[in-house]
Amino acid sequence: MTGRSEVPSDPVRRRLLDELWNTDHRYYELARQHVRAAAQRPGEYDFLRERLPASGDILEVGCGEGSNMEVLAAPGRRFVGCDLSALALRLATDSSPVGGTNRFVRGEGEALPFPDATFCAVMGISLLEHLPHPETAIAEMARVLAPGGTLLLLSPQYGGPLGASPCRQGGGPGRFLRRFLRAHLPRRGSEMGWERVAPTVLEGAAYDGDRDAVIEPELTGLVRYLSHLGLELEVVTSGLEWATWLDYPGSLPQQLARAICERLGRLGLAPYRHFGPVVAVAARRPPVKP
Ligand SMILES: C[S@@+](CC[C@H](N)C(=O)[O-])C[C@H]1O[C@@H](n2cnc3c(N)ncnc32)[C@H](O)[C@@H]1O
Repeated sequence: MTGRSEVPSDPVRRRLLDELWNTDHRYYELARQHVRAAAQRPGEYDFLRERLPASGDILEVGCGEGSNMEVLAAPGRRFVGCDLSALALRLATDSSPVGGTNRFVRGEGEALPFPDATFCAVMGISLLEHLPHPETAIAEMARVLAPGGTLLLLSPQYGGPLGASPCRQGGGPGRFLRRFLRAHLPRRGSEMGWERVAPTVLEGAAYDGDRDAVIEPELTGLVRYLSHLGLELEVVTSGLEWATWLDYPGSLPQQLARAICERLGRLGLAPYRHFGPVVAVAARRPPVKP
C-alpha cells in the first residue's frame, strides 16, 4: 500500500505553510544553527548516530533544510528527505553534496508517498510537535519501515508534567498536577492523548523557535502507542542524562517540582525518569520470522 500524497486541509497547517514553512528563509537558518550546535554537544545526536544503520536507505520525515542529513552523513547512508514545504526541499537540495545520493520528495508525514517496507531506518527529528495528527504520521512511518528497521524519534517533551511549548501560556501548577496524575494512570495505547496548542507565530509572535508547535509531545503516550503498533522499543529516554533542559524558567513551584522529579528520575525511578526535556525513542519493526 502507498500513502496518499495530497496535503490534508487542516487550516492551521495551511497557514503555517503559507506564512512560515514555505516562505521564511530565516526559519530554516535558525533550524540549521540549532542542529549544527546540538550535533557538537554530547547527547541527542550521539543517540541518533549510534542508532542509525551505517548504510542503507534512510527516510527523514520533516527534513526541513536538510541539516540532520548533513550532520548524520556517512559513506553508506542514502538519505531520502521528505517535507511538506517546497522551500525546505529547495534549501535541502541546494545544500546537499553535488553528485551525492540524497534525494528529496515532497510529501506529508500523515500520508507518506512511499510503498510499505521501503527503508531500513525512518527518522522524525523536531517533527512531532508540528503534527496535528501524530498517531497517523507515526503509523505511516512504521508502515514504510522494512522488517528489522529502526524508527528514531526525537522532539522536545512539551507535553510532560515538567514541560510546556512556547505556544502555551499560563496554567503552570494546574497543568503540572493534571499531567503528573495522568502519568500514574493506565491509558489506552491506541491514542497518545497529546494536548493541542495554537501556534503563536500565527498570532503575530516573533519566531524564535517552536512558536509553530501545534501539539505537545509526551513520552509515556508515545511509548504505549509504538507498542500498540507492534514495534519493539530499543531505547526510550527523556534525556535527563543529557542535561539539556530547554529554556523554560517557570514559576518557583514549577522549578521546585522540576528539581524533585528530576532527582527521582535520575535515580531511574518510574514515572519520573520519563519527565525529562525530550522524547527520544529508538524502536524496531520486528524482523519477519523464517
Ligand atoms: C522545525 S523544522 C525541522 C527540520 C529538521 N527536521 C530539523 O531538525 O531541523 C519542521 C519541518 O517539518 C515540516 N513539516 C511539518 N509538518 C509536516 C508534515 N506533516 N509532514 C512533513 N513535513 C512536515 C515543516 O515543513 C518543517 O520543514
